[in-house]
Amino acid sequence: MDKSKSVAVVGAQWGDEGKGKVIDYLASKADIVARFQGGNNAGHTVVYGANIFKLHHVPSGILNAGTLCLLGNGMVVDPLVLVEELFELEKRGIDTSKLYISGKAHLNMAYHKDLDEANEELLGEKKIGTTGRGIGPAYADKVMRRGIRAVDMTGFERFRERLADILPLQNRILKEIYNHKGYDLDELFELYCPALERLGPLVTDGSLLLIENLTAGKKVLFEGAQGALLDIDHGTYPYVTSSSTVAAAAATGNGVGPQHISQVLGVIKAYTTRVGEGPFPTEDRSEAGEQLRERGNEFGTTTGRPRRCGWFDSVIARYAAMVNGLTGLAVTKLDVLSGMDTVNMAVAYSCSGAETNNFPGSIEELKECTPVYETYSGWDEDISRVRRFQDLPAAARHFLKALEENVGVKIELVSVGPDRSQTITCQDSSLESWIVP
Ligand code: IMP
Repeated sequence: MDKSKSVAVVGAQWGDEGKGKVIDYLASKADIVARFQGGNNAGHTVVYGANIFKLHHVPSGILNAGTLCLLGNGMVVDPLVLVEELFELEKRGIDTSKLYISGKAHLNMAYHKDLDEANEELLGEKKIGTTGRGIGPAYADKVMRRGIRAVDMTGFERFRERLADILPLQNRILKEIYNHKGYDLDELFELYCPALERLGPLVTDGSLLLIENLTAGKKVLFEGAQGALLDIDHGTYPYVTSSSTVAAAAATGNGVGPQHISQVLGVIKAYTTRVGEGPFPTEDRSEAGEQLRERGNEFGTTTGRPRRCGWFDSVIARYAAMVNGLTGLAVTKLDVLSGMDTVNMAVAYSCSGAETNNFPGSIEELKECTPVYETYSGWDEDISRVRRFQDLPAAARHFLKALEENVGVKIELVSVGPDRSQTITCQDSSLESWIVP
């Protein structure tokens, strides 16, 4: 298989790794950008010159004229939010006519958001810290076989009928368990009618669209959201999102065979952040963590919540490499570390008196782990204008080489600022055919 044909770009930490920027960088050479999981819990910030775009459902590829964008069957799509997102893009002159939605994608409905919020409230101190966007309840309904799918948006009668079948149970749950007033069928239907009109024509057979294009030799970029440690199976359960965030999900979440994923690029920050609850071994609650938050502007794109910050953790990175089958790394936000006297990197964990290189299987064990750090010299130089690896300060190169060695995966790209242009392509990168010189 031609290695240049498709690449999956996935988060290798707890999300917010800077996937949007990396995807945007590669998307100019992509014929199709396809998302495969999650919904508007995701938030990608793409900076292009003076323009800042905050995307939630829509793949970053939308900013490239001519690139097809697909919301895959593995997603949960909030029709009301998507309509708003498209409107905002169009207002700023972005052509959205090449966006398609897989008919098999599930809809994230108003009652899912209510259930998400109510569930978090009920959990109290044990809450997950969700984005409150209804993601968990929407996936739960999919698995319970009582979801509404994008294909149901292609006919008003069809949508109303499906809603009529489902709403009585949703209302019972809302009223009897969560003390919510529930929804009136006619009112809810009316609320969604404009979205049906706008989005119905975008619904397509996502698998067919991709396979036809792949067969014709087109380049497909699979856009992941969140990160490996938030994966429903492989993440820090229950403090995870409700979808499969790892690279293999690019196949199931788009209805193509796994042989179509030829490269897996893991996006990873030069330090670590997390939003929401759950264990985070390298979290730094001292001044260094505060510095990372301020310099890295670590506040959520979706919720505005301050992110928890800490040092780079090779243990989770190695784990992410394993569960994703990473073939390369894109290290982001290296510039944020400039000006630090020293930079720490966890190389192992110390758990119950023993040292381990492996990520523990349960959060109970993880809570007991403390990081074993290696400390590197910092650098003072402003690296935001550096465009070649060899032009980075020696200390920064040394840090990256150690990171590469500790994770065991080749660094392909290094990001030194939010703009598309602030990206270093490493020598012999296998992504070269994706990069505009
Ligand atoms: P949910 O996906 O809204 O259900 O949230 C579940 C967990 O995933 C929470 O800890 C969220 O903070 C986290 N999460 C969801 N989406 C993102 C994201 O795009 N970036 C970072 N964390 C996320």
